[in-house]
Amino acid sequence: MTAVTDLDVFPPSPEFAATANAGPELAAAAEADRLGFWADQAARLHWHEPFTEVLDWTDAPVAKWFVGGKLNVAYNCVDRHVLDGHGDQVAIHWEGEPGDSRDLTYNDLLAEVSRAANYFTELGLEAGDRVAIYMPMIPEAIISMLACARLGLTHSVVFAGYSPTALRSRVDDAEARLIVTTDGQWRRGKSAPLKEAVDGALADGEHSVEHVLVVRRTGMDVPWTEKRDAWWDDTVAVASPEHEAQAFDSEHPLFILYTSGTTGKPKGIVHTTGGYLTQTSYTHHYVFDHKAGQDVYWCTADIGWVTGHSYIVYGPLSNRTTQVVYEGTPNSPNEHRHWEIVEKYGVTIYYTAPTLVRTFMKWGHAIPEAHNLSSIRLLGSVGEPINPEAWRWYRKHIGADKAPIVDTWWQTETGAIMMSPLPGVTATKPGAAMGPLPGISAKVVDDDGNDIALGETEAVGYLVLDQPWPAMLRGIWGDMDRYRETYWDRYADQGWYFAGDGAKVDEDDAFWVLGRVDDVMNVSGHRISTSEVESALVGHYGVAEAAVVGASDDTTGQGIVAFVILKESAHGGDADLVAELKAEVAREISPIAKPREIHIVPELPKTRSGKIMRRLLRDVAEGRELGDTSTLVDPKVFEAIRNS
Ligand code: PRX
Repeated sequence: MTAVTDLDVFPPSPEFAATANAGPELAAAAEADRLGFWADQAARLHWHEPFTEVLDWTDAPVAKWFVGGKLNVAYNCVDRHVLDGHGDQVAIHWEGEPGDSRDLTYNDLLAEVSRAANYFTELGLEAGDRVAIYMPMIPEAIISMLACARLGLTHSVVFAGYSPTALRSRVDDAEARLIVTTDGQWRRGKSAPLKEAVDGALADGEHSVEHVLVVRRTGMDVPWTEKRDAWWDDTVAVASPEHEAQAFDSEHPLFILYTSGTTGKPKGIVHTTGGYLTQTSYTHHYVFDHKAGQDVYWCTADIGWVTGHSYIVYGPLSNRTTQVVYEGTPNSPNEHRHWEIVEKYGVTIYYTAPTLVRTFMKWGHAIPEAHNLSSIRLLGSVGEPINPEAWRWYRKHIGADKAPIVDTWWQTETGAIMMSPLPGVTATKPGAAMGPLPGISAKVVDDDGNDIALGETEAVGYLVLDQPWPAMLRGIWGDMDRYRETYWDRYADQGWYFAGDGAKVDEDDAFWVLGRVDDVMNVSGHRISTSEVESALVGHYGVAEAAVVGASDDTTGQGIVAFVILKESAHGGDADLVAELKAEVAREISPIAKPREIHIVPELPKTRSGKIMRRLLRDVAEGRELGDTSTLVDPKVFEAIRNS
């Protein structure tokens, strides 16, 4: 990997700066009056009732932003654009995986969201009820989210690659009354069942779900439970397209999104209304330099992740974006697909993950070069640190050596972008998220909370957020103790949010986020906890014990490497067993959690107190010399592991 040198600073071009949404005055305004600044950002939205106070932090760490204000998220994302005379503007250029496509204008979106809201009301759902959405990337998924927001229903989107078990645990935790799904989903030219997975998840009948609403996507046959199940075509599609949105309190829960933490049980991250929409809207406008009615924006995430929530649905639509939504993978039917889509719609802003940039690099620059990508004027990166080589490649081969790159650091918990260069303002360095956005405050500190001195480039610290921010999570669904423990106990004296990431600040005050410091892995930008995978492995009859680590991987950032001890009875065809164990993890969690390698070992390295030393296993997995083994009960265990 090439080191970053001083020559690698990319100042904004005068041409870009001349028309940029952001200017230096933004940071000055936030510095002069942080809360006043956020009040101004909130004013980008339509409030049915104005707020009386910007921030109430008296019940810290549970914030209330824009206290007393009332608004409707769907009204802000759809109705107001129609009322402002932009109903004919395309909101979504949808591109299906098999090659079908559909354009939805803001008028269309208003009618569809209203129909869904009317049908959800007919089902007896009321504000505060939870709805699970388990769908591929089709317009009805976005319509369902907006219909929930319109009615004050709290949605919980579950990635359609998750297993029935994973779906069920999320549905149970949130006590969802409705699941919206599809008959099946397209994956690389083949249809795969999805409704069947819902039936599998609900097989025992002992759950909170009263209704399953099914969108016909692939046309495949599906199992059916009378009374509980309904087709979208027979219900939503024939409902009235008129619906008047009611306003909800600024702190009304908008959604729950499950994410991996350090234990096996995923955490239901709770986001609310006014602060969340303010910050997603603000960041989308300034970080992506978005110009309504001119830009064609494309964020390649899935709505199953927070990036899809904040930068496909809420941020962009609140800013009257015209955007591309694509259902499939980047190589179906071949590696040209993304660039064909960019050409077809004239995409101007493209936002993706470093893992995909590295995949494009592997495929070679001849592929993007075969296309006219001159429409692209800004590139974004999210989900993991972007290595300088990938950054440079992205800028050169996708951005014609001139498009600014915004490397955006944030998390499911932060709800919206926290650190990023501001295009037109910030000089960027390949691989650095540069610094907190105006209105946001972050620090890099040591174990005791002392600032790590600027320029101590080798000193790695912990990233903390030392001021509350509007889109911050308001808790973990049903477990406020875990919320305090996970994020706030570490720096309880100072009252700072502990992000779980290692970071450093260089001599120019630029922040470099280096990755997780806890037992959370980042595989292709997906968060997976080591213990989640370990519990799937020990769930297999043959496994006595398992230890999982994230080892660095050239394409996916990290790859999952598992070490398992078998029960006496399970020895035999180890190769078959490894394949079976990989399949078991895919089945239990999702194919995204499938280990890259599984090593069958006689023992695991443990400390005297019985803790598995993952650090040493990571050394083994990455082929490094072992670190300090002095605390091990039996240092010889490694010979056995290496030989296995
Ligand atoms: O480790 C950081 C990494 O992704 C984690 C958050 O994952 P998740 O909640 O799934 O949200 C991903 C999309 C926002 C962070 O704790 N991460 C995210 N963006 C960056 C990053 N690491 C370095 N640079 C980034 N730009």
